[in-house]
Amino acid sequence: MRIALLSRNPRLYSTSRLVEAARARGHTIEVIDPIGCVVVIGRNTQRMFSKNVEVLGFDVVIPRIGASITDYGLAVLAYFQRHAVPCVNSPLAIARSRDKLRALQRLSAHDVGIPRTAIARDPEAIRAAVDAVGGVPVIIKLLQGTQGVGVMIADTAEGVESTLDTLWGLGQNIILQEFIAESRGRDLRALVVGGEVVGAMRRTARDGEFRSNLHRGGAGQPVVLDEEYRRAAIEATRIIGLDVAGVDMLESKEGPRVIEVNSSPGLRGIEKATGTDVATHVIAHAERLVHEAPARTRE
Ligand SMILES: Nc1ncnc2c1ncn2[C@@H]1O[C@H](COP(=O)(O)OP(=O)(O)O)[C@@H](O)[C@H]1O
Ligand SMILES: [Mg+2]
Repeated sequence: MRIALLSRNPRLYSTSRLVEAARARGHTIEVIDPIGCVVVIGRNTQRMFSKNVEVLGFDVVIPRIGASITDYGLAVLAYFQRHAVPCVNSPLAIARSRDKLRALQRLSAHDVGIPRTAIARDPEAIRAAVDAVGGVPVIIKLLQGTQGVGVMIADTAEGVESTLDTLWGLGQNIILQEFIAESRGRDLRALVVGGEVVGAMRRTARDGEFRSNLHRGGAGQPVVLDEEYRRAAIEATRIIGLDVAGVDMLESKEGPRVIEVNSSPGLRGIEKATGTDVATHVIAHAERLVHEAPARTRE
């Protein structure tokens, strides 16, 4: 089959691994930079060009859309969806995953453990919001942060107030979240593909850091998830509506607390830590989507 891989750079680890895995299974795969695409929309028509060539004839699309180009990348992905090309992560599901508040609100409508979380926008409301999530220390997050950037901890009420003053002054919305102290500096990352956990690691932050992101210097060790963690990861992915996701979970005394569902999870850390060929699982899932898609007229 013919696969379109939306990615800014073919040399990125995840991109090159997906290309390798697709070719190994006998597919044709093209890396398309979404930023280089021109989408032309008119009454009842939508066409797209990449480097002046019309983008046509793909059987499936795999989006790898970075947080810095979410809106444009989703417009490009929507073009494929409009032409009934199956997407390994739909534009709607990616949009849901990108906003931490929106994602947690969605999860909270289902039976998935999440940390107590509050949203506030008024200085007068800070105290009540902090109390509602269990008091200080409290976690403060930007709605659209990634790779640990935009996740802070405040140890005192004054610290919360001055941080929020600054962030609100910059026009940022934030969430306040219960600090899960027993998992300080640790979390679990589960890679879910097609409704199954294909690999999982425990990430440990470097000394003096509470964020366990690999981009912040954390280290990954392979783990076999307990059943309740496995179920939470699969359920969170299903609720957000993603085909492929990296689910971040904290290990609280009361069990799994899902903090984030990533729609373009990095493959390097998880493949290196677990030795699992995640890229091939993603390609195999793309094959299933094509197989299951209703027969459609090729453009
Ligand atoms: N409520 C929390 N309690 C304790 N640690 C947390 C909490 N939320 C986040 N962390 C730590 O911060 C890291 C980044 O948080 P996350 O919500 O996944 O944002 P990002 O999108 O930046 O990865 C997590 O991997 C975890 O180590
Ligand atoms: Mg995370």
